[in-house]
Amino acid sequence: MTRVLIAGAVVLALVGATAASGQAAEDPVASRKAVMQSVAGAAGLSGAMLKGEMAYSPAAGKAAIATFNAAGVVFGDYFPEGSDTGDTSAAPKIWEDRAGFEAEVAKLAAAASAAMQASGREGPADLESFKAVVGPVLATCRSCHQGFRKR
Ligand code: HEC
Repeated sequence: MTRVLIAGAVVLALVGATAASGQAAEDPVASRKAVMQSVAGAAGLSGAMLKGEMAYSPAAGKAAIATFNAAGVVFGDYFPEGSDTGDTSAAPKIWEDRAGFEAEVAKLAAAASAAMQASGREGPADLESFKAVVGPVLATCRSCHQGFRKR
């Protein structure tokens, strides 16, 4: 369990560091990928608990939810004009249909922020309450990737 908590803390630190460093302006592609990797880590942690591969703990649930929430706040900032080339799987549609993309970011932000509010300080008390709030967050991955990420 200690290892899981440390992993959660590292993920949070990563998102924070990315947001604070000004790296976004210099290398938005690397920044948004780092955010997605932290989100993938949180999704893996959530999935393992939901599948019962790992014992649920409110602190681990909270770490995952806080990571999703941070991503919802910053992710949309890392897609400036001209960042559609290079080592990226971001689809050109992001820049062609900005409003549609922003709507997908808003779905992530809304679901994660609702989960955050329902979590309280300690995190969701049990697996059932974790599942209820994290399910809508996890549904946004596929929804956004389908339209806005290259296969
Ligand atoms: C609002 C849209 C959006 C949502 C929501 C979203 N993603 Fe992504 N994701 C993207 C885009 C766009 C990329 C491509 C980024 C790039 O390569 O520049 C990406 C890339 C990724 C990557 C690859 C990162 C890399 O290093 O290349 C992973 C892993 C990932 N997403 C996981 C997730 C998971 C898990 C969730 C749900 C919890 C999620 N994403 C939710 C848009 C989204």
